[in-house]
Amino acid sequence: MKILITAGPTREPLDPVRYLTNRSSGRMGYALAEAAVAEGHLVDLVSGPVSLIPTDGVKMHFVETAQQMWEKVRQLTLGEPPPQLAIHAAAVADYRPKVVAEQKIKKQADTLILELERNPDVLGSMRGAFGFTGYLVGFAAETQNLVANAQEKLKRKGCDLVIANDVSRKDTGFDSTENEVMLCLPSGETELIPKQSKQTLAREIIRRVVALASQ
Ligand code: PMT
Repeated sequence: MKILITAGPTREPLDPVRYLTNRSSGRMGYALAEAAVAEGHLVDLVSGPVSLIPTDGVKMHFVETAQQMWEKVRQLTLGEPPPQLAIHAAAVADYRPKVVAEQKIKKQADTLILELERNPDVLGSMRGAFGFTGYLVGFAAETQNLVANAQEKLKRKGCDLVIANDVSRKDTGFDSTENEVMLCLPSGETELIPKQSKQTLAREIIRRVVALASQ
């Protein structure tokens, strides 16, 4: 099966030396890519800036900003043949600085106000803008109301499955080696996959989503 995966953070420049980003290490997305290749699938991995070594056999596409990730995912989704399954594990910045200074911003007043503007929604563009008709999996990074927020994202972004993780915990989620997730289906059904290494969790997720995507 042809699978498209996104991973890692995006980096939104402020000036030539500074940027806005988040704590995503890319481990969850890279583990999914590794698990999928091990099962014999063809994997395109669109990755933000991380310090991980890509797995042999994974076709890598490196990007920095949310706009670049949107464009690369668009190209891959419109490719021939298109992916049959897409899993969006990247932590894409929702906003970017409205103005990127050409020179390093100098210290001046005691406070500095940054104006931000919305980034495109990569996952949210899959159904409409990119015309994706395959099985669509989103992640949801939540600090409260895990299932309710994940269900809202599932509907709003046209997903077949949302994998929700509680990112307020220190032992799972962002930048940890382990994760615990709740699978949220359009029927309202949920299933907890308990805490384990991101590698073993990724194998379980790939096994399940490939089965669902093949129905
Ligand atoms: O990278 P790790 O350190 O291993 O951590 C893994 C993880 C916590 C980053 C991962 O498990 C995870 O939850 N990824 C999604 C993080 C996120 O940004 O969630 P969100 O709830 O803000 O976004 C919901 C979904 O929309 C996600 O699939 C996201 O990729 C997508 N999105 C969000 C905003 C945007 N502009 N474009 C998007 O495609």
